Amino acid sequence: MKHTDWTPTTWRAKKALQQPTYPDLEKVVGVEARLAKQPPLVFAGEARRLKKGLAQVAAGNAFLLQGGDCAESFAEFSAANIRDSFRVILQMAVVLTFGGSIPVVKVGRMAGQFAKPRSDDSETRGEVSLPSYRGDIINGLDFTPETRIPDPERMMQVYNQSAATLNLLRAFAQGGYADLHKVHSWNLDFVAGDLQAERYQDISNRIGEALSFMRACGINGETTPSIRETEFFTSHEALLLPYEQALTRVDSTTGDWYDVSAHMLWIGDRTRGPDDAHVEFLRGVNNPLGLKCGPSLDVDDLLRLIDKLNPTNEAGRLTLIARMGADKVEASLPPLLRRIKAEGRHVVWCTDPMHGNTEKTSTSYKTRHFSKVLAEVKGFFDVCGAEGVWPGGIHLEMTGRNVTECTGGASDITEHDLKECYETHCDPRLNASQALELAFLVAAQLKPLRRNDGGEE
Ligand code: PEP
Ligand code: CO
Repeated sequence: MKHTDWTPTTWRAKKALQQPTYPDLEKVVGVEARLAKQPPLVFAGEARRLKKGLAQVAAGNAFLLQGGDCAESFAEFSAANIRDSFRVILQMAVVLTFGGSIPVVKVGRMAGQFAKPRSDDSETRGEVSLPSYRGDIINGLDFTPETRIPDPERMMQVYNQSAATLNLLRAFAQGGYADLHKVHSWNLDFVAGDLQAERYQDISNRIGEALSFMRACGINGETTPSIRETEFFTSHEALLLPYEQALTRVDSTTGDWYDVSAHMLWIGDRTRGPDDAHVEFLRGVNNPLGLKCGPSLDVDDLLRLIDKLNPTNEAGRLTLIARMGADKVEASLPPLLRRIKAEGRHVVWCTDPMHGNTEKTSTSYKTRHFSKVLAEVKGFFDVCGAEGVWPGGIHLEMTGRNVTECTGGASDITEHDLKECYETHCDPRLNASQALELAFLVAAQLKPLRRNDGGEE
């Protein structure tokens, strides 16, 4: 899709919310110039493949699993963390594919998810007010005046960390780690006796049997590469526009623009003004896009946004990520589903059951209760069912680590337990066990919806 009225810089004439105020603009320009010379992090052809996968989701033939940290950080950058998040996403995908009988499109909030929108520009502790933390791509989390000053050099560090993360993700996805024969060994690091680990063990035994049967029939990793490797895509909120602009290039095979910082980019709930800078920037790149849809979004604005972001009504281009909150989903979502369907727009509808369910405990931890997360997922499936819309996916803040950030779940983390291992740089994440528990529950919702595609009942 080519626009005659768009370039990677047209957003600069629009209102750009949630951007940092850099003290030294010359330094910003210098970093932008260096970034613009860096090699792309992803190839346009990969973004097109993801779009094809998402078109299958839009058509009701596949399910989207998108997840990862709320905010990646420099401090928690390690091979072990990347592996653990990747592994739990693969485990969830196995549960959904096997339990829900459906292909799963896997997209990480990884290798670029560093910029955070904030409700307040400043944070006050006691007598002291400092600029809010906006993610490691902008400033530091420590509550000191120096670390909270936005530093453009951080963009280079994000680029380098994202490149290293992607390199490892590609190696895991294609180098043997994701081989379905290894589903058993992915379970080794779970806490002994964890209920989800036992349920997962059961599925992996059944997959092992199915693979033996298939091998006997002549179907194996050699004949069928999808048994020995997987496709894994990256995504983040395209919030910091100078960074995204510097990584936007013309694809030599099609002549189209792509933002090569990730396969998929999304627009946050706070920066989705139809005439604002984020929408302007993203309408011109050809990557698959996400749009967060919170309770304040009205249906006419949503249609205007779809007109701008997907004027050719291309399936797979646009994923609408509903994040209404457990108590609002049943009232707020149906009017949107109904109208978009009536207008014949090809979109993926996905649920983010995290961002509408954040609360503060009396000890001032930000948390989310697993029962609320689950209630929003169930509400999403219910209203999609009632409106005849395919519930296309789930978008989660989660980690492969055994953190205590969200309360509840089968291991019943209490408010009192939160202090044990609360490590997020921003919002509370599901831990590996909670994420897997959710995957089992989603698989159970999907199962009855699957068409019988093997012939007669
Ligand atoms: C996020 O996904 O981290 C986020 C900030 O979400 P939202 O824009 O939906 O609030
Ligand atoms: Co978040």
